[in-house]
Amino acid sequence: MRRTLIAGNWKMNGSFSANRALLTDIIAGLPDGNSIETLVCAPAPYLAQCAEVLGKTPVKWGAQDVSAHIKGAFTGEVSATMLADCQCKYVIVGHSERRAYHAESNELVAQKVVQALSEKLTPVVCVGETLEQREGGATNAIVGAQLQVVLDVLSAEQVSEIVLAYEPVWAIGTGKTATPQMAQDVHAFLRGQLSVKSAEAANTVRILYGGSMKPENAKELLAMADIDGGLIGGAALKAADFLAIISAC
Ligand code: PGA
Repeated sequence: MRRTLIAGNWKMNGSFSANRALLTDIIAGLPDGNSIETLVCAPAPYLAQCAEVLGKTPVKWGAQDVSAHIKGAFTGEVSATMLADCQCKYVIVGHSERRAYHAESNELVAQKVVQALSEKLTPVVCVGETLEQREGGATNAIVGAQLQVVLDVLSAEQVSEIVLAYEPVWAIGTGKTATPQMAQDVHAFLRGQLSVKSAEAANTVRILYGGSMKPENAKELLAMADIDGGLIGGAALKAADFLAIISAC
């Protein structure tokens, strides 16, 4: 049984005061006996604040990116060791905004996954196709290639340690959501690909859906057999929406 994971991706939003208010409201509003794993991925300067505010709560925190390098002369980069030092448990890797605006290749994403795992951080590996690619019938080829480069650098045991996120680029921040069946089809395809590497990983790896997930559509999406949670951008910035998605699970 895969434990549902609801992860907020704050992107480049927040401030010390706004974060404190948001996190306080999330903690206060978590349903009693909540069995859903809850995560917020904050900008790096706020990870220590997350540790302070969330340390004694069930809500986990993570980062939005990690360096592919261990340490040294890489101005502006943040290493996996530093994220672990901030008590992160997770890090988003290969988000489509990193791929698009920072030219992150599949190979670089794979190196970042390796770095994250080396510090026992769970990488949330994002894959997704553009609208043009979907309309050209290339969805499975694109997400399959993005995943395969990561699988190629990991052992079967390591694959069991990752979380995957299917985020169609055309659905991110646009208000357009993949239908539950469209998302399920891609999730099932990705799970099939995992099974070639490791039957155990195919069974245990959680595959999140991301792209305009909100309270109104979360329930239907999360009801699909291979959708194990959500990676939520815009709706993660409002405690009421984030909590409503958790309650929809
Ligand atoms: P969105 O973003 O929920 O605002 O579409 C999701 C993401 O980019 O992770």
